[in-house]
Amino acid sequence: MAFGLNLGLSFMTRKFSRKCFMCFERHNVVQVKPFLSGLRSFASDQDDSKRDSRSSDASVTPAFTSPSFSHRASLFGRRRPLSPLERVSQLLPEDTLSQEVWDLRDTRNSEVGRLERNTENDVKQNCQNERLEKEEAASHEQATAHACVSGEKPISFGETLLAEYRRNRRMEFRKMFQLKEGLKIHSNWGLIAHEDIEGRPTGRILHTSMGIPILIRRPSLEEFTLFMKRGPAIAYPKDASAMLTMMDVTEGDCVLDSGSGSGAMSLFLSRAVGCKGSVLSMEIREDHHRRAVLNYQRWRSSWSIRQGEKWPDNVHFYHGDLISAGSLLSGRGFNSVALDMINPHLALPAVVPHLHSGSVCAVYQANITQVIDLMEGLRCSALPLVCERIIEVQYRDWLVSPSLKKDGTFNRRKAPCGDDDESEPSEDTEDLTPFGDVPYIARPHPEQTSHTAFLVKLRKILK
Ligand SMILES: C[S@@+](CC[C@H](N)C(=O)[O-])C[C@H]1O[C@@H](n2cnc3c(N)ncnc32)[C@H](O)[C@@H]1O
Repeated sequence: MAFGLNLGLSFMTRKFSRKCFMCFERHNVVQVKPFLSGLRSFASDQDDSKRDSRSSDASVTPAFTSPSFSHRASLFGRRRPLSPLERVSQLLPEDTLSQEVWDLRDTRNSEVGRLERNTENDVKQNCQNERLEKEEAASHEQATAHACVSGEKPISFGETLLAEYRRNRRMEFRKMFQLKEGLKIHSNWGLIAHEDIEGRPTGRILHTSMGIPILIRRPSLEEFTLFMKRGPAIAYPKDASAMLTMMDVTEGDCVLDSGSGSGAMSLFLSRAVGCKGSVLSMEIREDHHRRAVLNYQRWRSSWSIRQGEKWPDNVHFYHGDLISAGSLLSGRGFNSVALDMINPHLALPAVVPHLHSGSVCAVYQANITQVIDLMEGLRCSALPLVCERIIEVQYRDWLVSPSLKKDGTFNRRKAPCGDDDESEPSEDTEDLTPFGDVPYIARPHPEQTSHTAFLVKLRKILK
């Protein structure tokens, strides 16, 4: 039968051989798989010289044994389909095939080989890119997975932390929480167990149960005051720091603060005066007094866990009315006074005698009408105070970020081309540029902090 097939094949066109093969298959004349395995051993037992000369040629090597093809097959999960000519001719011992059949197979296989080689090159390139990406990710991981630097403690239970998720230049999620065993951070973007955070360095990205990257870090004092539980509105950090400057608060100072409110200003003062200084904070409402004390304690306890040393215990909270606090204040002197309360001019007669001469009382007022009331109250009193300044602290946020295309990739800056030089800059030149080639958008941020307060600077001057 093989001899007959060979005779026929030597005169066959591709089309005819396909039809023959289909006919054989339909009538179960050939069973390809067992036959092929038999053929492989048959061919290797025959003329060795012929086998060797062809085995170096991809055209002879059966496609399913080709290492390169099996590599492709393993990548793509399928084999290259055989042409009908190949199928039929592979049923026969190689040495029985005529030259015409070999020529036809060679032509077809060299085309396929070229395609395969191209595809293999693509695959190799992809593999190389993947490898480079993996190496880059690994080195990044290595860089970010560094052990804590000396003096930096890993995160522990009991600490107050901040979780943040930013996307497309926007803050999508921000939450301050206390790390406790058995709890989870809940968000629309999935969960993170507190156990997964404990023991890690601060400033680390962790992934939620939904794979969303969330930054976990310790909050600054500014952030703590913004996110802590509030009773009344706080003195905003930008205003608080301007007040500290206005009052020229220095380490070791003794400062009067009223009302305590939620305790934000007390915390900023506490840091400014340090362990050698002290703050007397007065609050008329008991619930606000408790809130201020709790916030202060929470910050201090988190600080001692994270730093291993105590935050100075330098704020003394009092529950009472500043206007009638003469006995409490008697015998005390203050380097400066911070007033954030309604009708501050009513408290000034009790306070000013205890303020050092030449020192400053900074007053925080939300409305300009309150400032006018204060000025009129001062004019009507005989207090030794002069108003030096009334300011509003305005931060203007700007948006500065790489310009992106609609598909999320970076736009590219186009080098200006002179009339006489129309050539594009070469890749090499771009690589050598000391600055990047991405243009930026830079303009005031569309979302700005609105008005918070007016600050009034009063100085005690003795005549
Ligand atoms: C806006 S809050 C102060 C916020 C505080 N500076 C902070 O940063 O959290 C004003 C507080 O002053 C308190 N207060 C008003 N009159 C007072 C008075 N005569 N004596 C003491 N506290 C007073 C109020 O109860 C209120 O808690």
